[in-house]
Amino acid sequence: MDNNSTKGRDHWGSKLGFILAAAGSAVGLGNIWKFPYITYENGGGAFVLLYLVCILCVGFPIMVAEFLLGKISEKDAVGCFGIFRPDNKIFKFIGIIGVFTGFIILSYYSVVAGWTLEYTLKSLTCSEFIVDKPDYSSPELRKAIFKKYGTFTPAEKSEILLKAGFTAEAGKQAEQNSEANWKTLFESNDENYVSLRAPLIDQVVEKARAELGEQKFEESAIMMTKQHKASKIFGEHLGKGGSMLFWHAIFMIFTAVIVYGGISGGIEKASRILMPILFLLLGGLMIHSLTLSGGIDAFKFLINPDFAKLNKHSILEALGHAFFTLSLGMGAMITYGSYLSKKDKVTSSAMTVSILDTLIALMACMVLYPILFTYNTEVSAGAGLLFITLPALLAGSSGGSIILTVFFILVAFAALSSTISLLEVVVTYTNDEFGWKRKTSTIVNSVVIFLVGVPSALCFGGNKFFTELTLLSKGDAKLNWFDSFDYLASNWLLPVGGLLIALFIGWMIKDQEKHELIKEELGSSFYPFWNFLIKYVSPVCVAIIIANKIGLIE
Ligand code: PFF
Repeated sequence: MDNNSTKGRDHWGSKLGFILAAAGSAVGLGNIWKFPYITYENGGGAFVLLYLVCILCVGFPIMVAEFLLGKISEKDAVGCFGIFRPDNKIFKFIGIIGVFTGFIILSYYSVVAGWTLEYTLKSLTCSEFIVDKPDYSSPELRKAIFKKYGTFTPAEKSEILLKAGFTAEAGKQAEQNSEANWKTLFESNDENYVSLRAPLIDQVVEKARAELGEQKFEESAIMMTKQHKASKIFGEHLGKGGSMLFWHAIFMIFTAVIVYGGISGGIEKASRILMPILFLLLGGLMIHSLTLSGGIDAFKFLINPDFAKLNKHSILEALGHAFFTLSLGMGAMITYGSYLSKKDKVTSSAMTVSILDTLIALMACMVLYPILFTYNTEVSAGAGLLFITLPALLAGSSGGSIILTVFFILVAFAALSSTISLLEVVVTYTNDEFGWKRKTSTIVNSVVIFLVGVPSALCFGGNKFFTELTLLSKGDAKLNWFDSFDYLASNWLLPVGGLLIALFIGWMIKDQEKHELIKEELGSSFYPFWNFLIKYVSPVCVAIIIANKIGLIE
């Protein structure tokens, strides 16, 4: 239906359709890549518990708030604030931040989503990733063996460093300096260092060969070579501007075609297909992973909490991720809520979406961890987990190519069900606020978002200008277009948006009638609980993240 008025507004065909679409928005790269990665980095079970607390105390109440804002107003992410507070236009700014955030997240999210399409094709044969014989003379392999098997006591290290000409230092900084010198000795291309480290590396290589036995040593060397090769392939992939743009465009086209079909005819239909397939594929992969030798260890890692592994940083990470993964703080859930029928209740829907999202994130861990534990190798940082480590581990193993292909199809589906919600935020906004038709909104917004994403596709080597261009900095690091947008959106705009939404619904609604409507929606037993969370707990938690980011608290 092509509507821009509340009266003839399109609606979800059923509550299940709405839940699948909202869960589709929530389930995305955040669940299948980011959650397993940060949980792995933060020691497993204890981080999972922390994350569950964040979902329950912050994510869930804000999701209920967003659904309510949408459902009661039947308006887009900006217009809803005008319905709740017609007397003061300033509140519409909360929504404008949201639409802007959706716009910029989609511009770079679609670039990464595009990679999954190219990697699906690469996985069909996996031929690029396969290594038959390790080249023991390759400097990269020698270094990798040294890193993995070279164990030196601090005393041995300082003796080597002294011989290499580094001066010994005392005091607090000594340990850090010695680490830095060690790195220089083994990473630098300075000829002097290269010849100094050569015999040491030889020693470690020979010792490892003797200790492991020829066959094990060769297997380990093949795995390291594969990691190096996969990392090179990923680097080359990022540097090919033309193909990066091509896949970005294809993903935006897929997204636009679905959104063009409208709420019940496009997004709901697609979610009804994408989500069950996603669930089945993930379940199948998980069962396969559990049969691997690392399955039990992976399971233990995920359920055994080791609180010593947590620090202040983990708390902030868990809270920030709760926003991203539930698609909160930027109007996606307001927009989806605005197409709910009057009879559909928001509390049970928010609960189901939060549970499904968490379940899928945990299942993704149980697909990836057994593979990591079975091969016991180093995990590449960030997106490298999916695009480097996984192909390196699976290529050449029995059934590896099928598993990798299914995995990338799964990630592409998850990403697609999220990109449609991001585009829908902007489309509903231009429909409701400017009276555009869905057709015009979809085409114009998709083209503009694609163009804003072009530098994100080209800033990894695809184009000299965009590769050298930096927009923001984070500490000492200068961020390119892609990283700047990601940093701005995930670290600032989503938490700020979430805080403002919580404060708005908790404190700014003056109209008694609206309060009554909210109470009626939530039921008298749940309302006080939610009201407490949204008024006090969520804003305080989010304010802590923001205060920490601006350096007000350590
Ligand atoms: N929730 C998505 C994920 O976990 O990948 C990301 C996302 C989608 C964020 C839609 C915000 C949004 F509106």
